[in-house]
Amino acid sequence: MKNYKIAVLAGDGIGPEITREALKVLKVIESRNDVTFELNEALFGACAYFETGDAFPQETIDTCDAADAILKGPIGLSHEESKKIPVDKQPERGALLPMRRRYNTYANFRPVSLPKKLAHFSPLKPEIIGEGIDLIIVRELVGGLYFGNKETGVAEDGKRYVRETLEYDEDQIRNILEQAFKLASRRKKVLHNIHKSNVLKSSVLWNEILEEMAPDYPDVKVVNILVDAAATALCLNPTQFDVMVMENMFGDILSDQGGGILGSLGLMPSACIGNEKAYYEPSHGSAPDIAGKNMANPYSMIGSVAMMLENSFDMADEAKNVWDAMQNVFGEGYSTADLSKPGSDVNIISTVEFGDKVVEALKNKG
Ligand code: IPM
Ligand code: MG
Repeated sequence: MKNYKIAVLAGDGIGPEITREALKVLKVIESRNDVTFELNEALFGACAYFETGDAFPQETIDTCDAADAILKGPIGLSHEESKKIPVDKQPERGALLPMRRRYNTYANFRPVSLPKKLAHFSPLKPEIIGEGIDLIIVRELVGGLYFGNKETGVAEDGKRYVRETLEYDEDQIRNILEQAFKLASRRKKVLHNIHKSNVLKSSVLWNEILEEMAPDYPDVKVVNILVDAAATALCLNPTQFDVMVMENMFGDILSDQGGGILGSLGLMPSACIGNEKAYYEPSHGSAPDIAGKNMANPYSMIGSVAMMLENSFDMADEAKNVWDAMQNVFGEGYSTADLSKPGSDVNIISTVEFGDKVVEALKNKG
């Protein structure tokens, strides 16, 4: 019998509701496999700040340090509410970035996937979706502008200024590119390299390293595309993409666009992988406007569980069952409110109902 410790950080806003559904799914997996999941809940984000004065308190750090994997809900407050917390203690700067740094989770995988039969969720025309969208964004997660030196001050002329640095060293670039090349060679053997080398020196170095590495992956075809052009291409022709690799900030922006072309950020789970530790989280925020209303889409959180099963616990078959169970629920015509469109005949169900239906479908698999 395997025993895995999971740190469960439900987070803010809709976090606790969607986490609850994800844990139901985990229970089903536990009930029929030779495995136990020890769930250790801990405060993380704004909720932790208000309780302890720290968005990533020591107790939570200890729980995460001891865990085999971390399941993390979305964090953050509305723009207005955020102002109640000092800038450096706000959940993003005070909890999320320190967690990414602490566990050096440099490789962020964000699948953007929509089968043909769910094309009606997308704002794109069915002919653009064709046989379906199935790409994965590989985002560098612990470098670049997010983690570079930051400075604000007042210049001699009395004007306020800010300076933020986009920093990478060659090992950081090589590590993320290696992940992307490997993934591409396991998938369709096409790697889209997203860059901005016509302006940014960081992209020039990035591309140089990519060129040095490419001969080690002779089966992978590299396609270079500027980040701005990639944004357009994601709308006009998303099916050309399979694996897309990019630095931190580009990945933040294009992955939200990924949610846009699917029809909802609620369809965006992710895995954040380091050499020693991995954590799993939806790519989206905490949606304070719909928190507590039982209407959030738990797909991204349940999908994050699927990614955890596969990456941290070597349970690829059960991971697939979880994905399939969610597709079954959609296939039966159900979805949460984020995916409804005026005039569509989608049957809107609540967060809890969605979770229950996934559990039901999952019990019929495996
Ligand atoms: C994401 C989020 C975070 C990021 C925020 C919450 C700091 O937008 O994971 O994409 O910018 O990385
Ligand atoms: Mg983001």
